[in-house]
Amino acid sequence: MSRVVLGVAGGIAAYKACELVRRLREAGHDVTVVPTASALEFVGRVTWEALSGHAVRTDVFSDAHEVAHVRLGQEADLVLVAPATADLIARAASGRADDLLTNVLLTTRAPVLFAPAMHTEMWLHPATVANVATLRERGVIVHDPASGRLTGADSGPGRLPEPADIEQVALSLLGDSATVEAIRRRDLAGQRVLISAGGTREALDAVRFLGNASSGRQGVALARAAALRGASVTLVAAHLDVPVPAGVSVLQVGSTAELAAAMSQEAPFADVIVMAAAVADFSTASPAASKIKKDGSAGLTLELVQTVDVLRTLSSHRTRPQVIVGFAAETAGSADELLRLGRAKLARKGCDLLVCNDVSGGAVFGQTTNTVMILDATGVVAMASADKNVVAHRVWDAIIAITP
Ligand code: CTP
Repeated sequence: MSRVVLGVAGGIAAYKACELVRRLREAGHDVTVVPTASALEFVGRVTWEALSGHAVRTDVFSDAHEVAHVRLGQEADLVLVAPATADLIARAASGRADDLLTNVLLTTRAPVLFAPAMHTEMWLHPATVANVATLRERGVIVHDPASGRLTGADSGPGRLPEPADIEQVALSLLGDSATVEAIRRRDLAGQRVLISAGGTREALDAVRFLGNASSGRQGVALARAAALRGASVTLVAAHLDVPVPAGVSVLQVGSTAELAAAMSQEAPFADVIVMAAAVADFSTASPAASKIKKDGSAGLTLELVQTVDVLRTLSSHRTRPQVIVGFAAETAGSADELLRLGRAKLARKGCDLLVCNDVSGGAVFGQTTNTVMILDATGVVAMASADKNVVAHRVWDAIIAITP
């Protein structure tokens, strides 16, 4: 069990932090909520106390004998601020200590994660841009806001990321110092990355499809990790069971043909391409336009044709220096067998790295953890067995190691 201090600043997205408290507690963590006084204008003290199971204070003068302004920061394993408003970001960047939350931010030596939420104009204002840069220079991890509907009729970057997305970042920071350091380095800044994720669906008729068990979790984790490390990320999303991460451009696709078209359209702009999608190997020769009816016969014979190999096509049609990474789902049974199958697949696909996992017995699909072996043409370059977000960072470490 880790100790999380959840700072809540005064913005309308404060209500979404309620779900974050619940999620972090369900994941087994102790959560103390430290709202600002203006956050309590949006969500009352009683709600935070009931959800967290801890007393809630906003200033340093209540229960002064407990010296909460020092203790909370010192004892925390993670300090998370969600939503972080323009005002809170400004106060933190200038080192103010005018309420309990800013005191905690100064006393803690734990990783600090900010999830900003504000109107687009405020997020893009040079003052906020400079304050965010200052915080990042000091090692604060700032999760870019999502784009979309804001309060009122406005739309643009500034939405608080989905609580499930913030939770994924928080959990990957807890207990994995290599991930904290990787994000702090922002070593993918200036890189344009293109990632496919999720399972494709091949239409059988107007209402049915052939699909697969992929949740898209590993591909989404790769997109989230790259965005946190400063990359400009385009995610080509086939069917996903998890929310897309904030700060990522998304192109939604259904079939393998749509995925192939989106990937070849975006590939010329990418420095790194990762094919994490579970792509169908076969699609129907000609899907029925209307729903297939039972015709009284015992069964139905489908005629399937092989789909295009997207990864092999991308690898063999590079128009500029690019790192291309594939995934391999194998029912191998042993590490030696996985290595043998992986080496053959790497050569067949023509990619630079291959992330191999053993999917025997349904392992991997839909799970929150993954065990991978990362190969290049010379052999194994890394192994990882962890939360999929942590595995994603190890994959990016391997990509960065071979990026010219
Ligand atoms: N892939 C692809 N296009 C396809 C099938 C797979 O681009 N039509 C990509 C996947 O996204 C993955 C890699 O190829 O990055 C390997 O996928 P996998 O399903 O493990 O291999 P297959 O190509 O299907 O080969 P096999 O059936 O021999 O295992």
